[in-house]
Amino acid sequence: MGYERAIERTTNHLLSDKTAVITGASSGIGRATALTLAQAGAAVVIHARRKDRLDELVSEISRHGGKALAVVGDAGIQADIDLLLNRALAWKEGGCKYDIAVVNAGRGLVGGIVGSDESRWQELYQVNVLGAAHLMRRVGQYMAQRKSGDIVTIGSVVGRNISPFSGFYGSSKFAIAGIAEALRREICMHGVRVSIVMPGIVLSEFQEVAGYNEENFGKAAAQFGTLVEPQAIAESIYWLLTLPPHININEIMIRPTGQFYP
Ligand SMILES: NC(=O)c1ccc[n+]([C@@H]2O[C@H](COP(=O)([O-])OP(=O)(O)OC[C@H]3O[C@@H](n4cnc5c(N)ncnc54)[C@H](OP(=O)(O)O)[C@@H]3O)[C@@H](O)[C@H]2O)c1
Repeated sequence: MGYERAIERTTNHLLSDKTAVITGASSGIGRATALTLAQAGAAVVIHARRKDRLDELVSEISRHGGKALAVVGDAGIQADIDLLLNRALAWKEGGCKYDIAVVNAGRGLVGGIVGSDESRWQELYQVNVLGAAHLMRRVGQYMAQRKSGDIVTIGSVVGRNISPFSGFYGSSKFAIAGIAEALRREICMHGVRVSIVMPGIVLSEFQEVAGYNEENFGKAAAQFGTLVEPQAIAESIYWLLTLPPHININEIMIRPTGQFYP
């Protein structure tokens, strides 16, 4: 599922004067979002740790006539996020500005408070909460000054309905949903839209990174029918961004139709 699908949905170039910063763009939801927004005409600044993946994505977007800049870094490190934003502001092809931030980089972790691997807790909060909050703060300051902009943060259904099977991870998504709504209330009067998109189960590299396997995930997921593909999340983000500027859909939850829990 890649560029062809993105092309079908976004040939109207509604984002042609926009520049979007997208974290976690080397895989899954972030990659699909970068392709979709680029096809809709946006210049995209893509961020992740895996340089080879980002370089490949820049090539794919450029091959189709789009504009992309890769910035390698860790989304849990403030200095790397500052570098990402500085590079975006210095990028001439992107107009030396950014209009959209998709705060997407994150990782999962199997297990609850007792059952998850505590040695991963700090890393998880560093990227899912503290790094994401720093990025939202920086782009929020910039967009409030410019009196326009869009911040789309990726939460999770387990950031609204906690599950004991991914309880510690879910807590990080509760935190980021709170931060997103707090930010919205703080800066919406300056013309900045803040949205949180909360996916259910999306098939990506997420499951492997989180430590899911047949036993702790596969059997349950098999009951949910066809799972969501990253492109569906990308299209919901595209929809949010192309609404009239005075309409802000604050929250979206997207599950596979058969996902009865959580
Ligand atoms: N898949 C699901 O079922 C699901 C459900 C609800 C919410 N979500 C959320 O959706 C977002 C995207 O997940 P996905 O499903 O697309 O997973 P994915 O395929 O594993 O992609 C995760 C992305 O985040 C990046 N990333 C992770 N840690 C990073 C770090 N420390 N620094 C920089 N980049 C980092 C990865 O890039 P590098 O490894 O190259 O750095 C990758 O590009 C996450 O916030 C996740 O919590 C996913």
